[in-house]
Amino acid sequence: MKVIKVKNYEELSRTAATIIAGVILSKPDCILGLATGSSPVGTYDQLAAMYEEGILDFSHVKSVNLDEYVGLDGSNDQSYRYFMNTNLFDHVNIDKNKTYVPNGLEEDSDKACADYNEIIRSVGGIDIQLLGIGGNGHIGFNEPGEAFEKETHCVDLTESTIKANARFFESMDEVPKQAYTMGIKNIMAAKKILLVATGSAKADALYKSLYGPITPNVPASILQLHQDVTVVADEDALRLIKEKGLL
Ligand code: GLP
Repeated sequence: MKVIKVKNYEELSRTAATIIAGVILSKPDCILGLATGSSPVGTYDQLAAMYEEGILDFSHVKSVNLDEYVGLDGSNDQSYRYFMNTNLFDHVNIDKNKTYVPNGLEEDSDKACADYNEIIRSVGGIDIQLLGIGGNGHIGFNEPGEAFEKETHCVDLTESTIKANARFFESMDEVPKQAYTMGIKNIMAAKKILLVATGSAKADALYKSLYGPITPNVPASILQLHQDVTVVADEDALRLIKEKGLL
């Protein structure tokens, strides 16, 4: 595992975007595994800027996203499809028909998940998977305690996630209670993994994930077993690791 320490969010975003750009340049028809959340937003801005400058061409790139809320249409501004369109896809020359997000409108969850696993397989697997990390060490929507071996599956969102999301919706009834997420098995099958972490709220999760025991209680700890992981993190996120003299 390679850990790159950066000073601030801008440097984190530039560093992560450079790594992804390297994959696109060396394999123009690569498959990007993409993530939502606030952590990768700057990375997407930087990738869009590289496209604007003529450094990157996304015309042969395909993408698969980690997760999507159940019940939300892609036009809903809280859906992860909407997030990806507005934060990246609308700003580069990627063919949106080749950008995949789990189908949140599919009510048959077995079908939604099987279809998504099939999409990942049919595009030939993920060349680089970008990840954020939850404060409890979750990746995608793989919450602590879930089996490591799962592929795409439906998760019941935790009470705290539902409450945290409530502010984005008009009523509690509209807040999604479930999500479809790639499982740890899909994530671990990616050729490369790039995890970005920023801020002190991630310090505990990052320390446990990189240096603690490998356990489903800290989903990101499984990354210790992947052969090609790069972590880009700022000083706040690395604080505990540094305090313990591990970096
Ligand atoms: C959500 C997403 C994750 C993301 C996490 C952290 O749970 N499903 O993919 O990593 O939030 O988000 P943030 O980067 O905003 O802290």
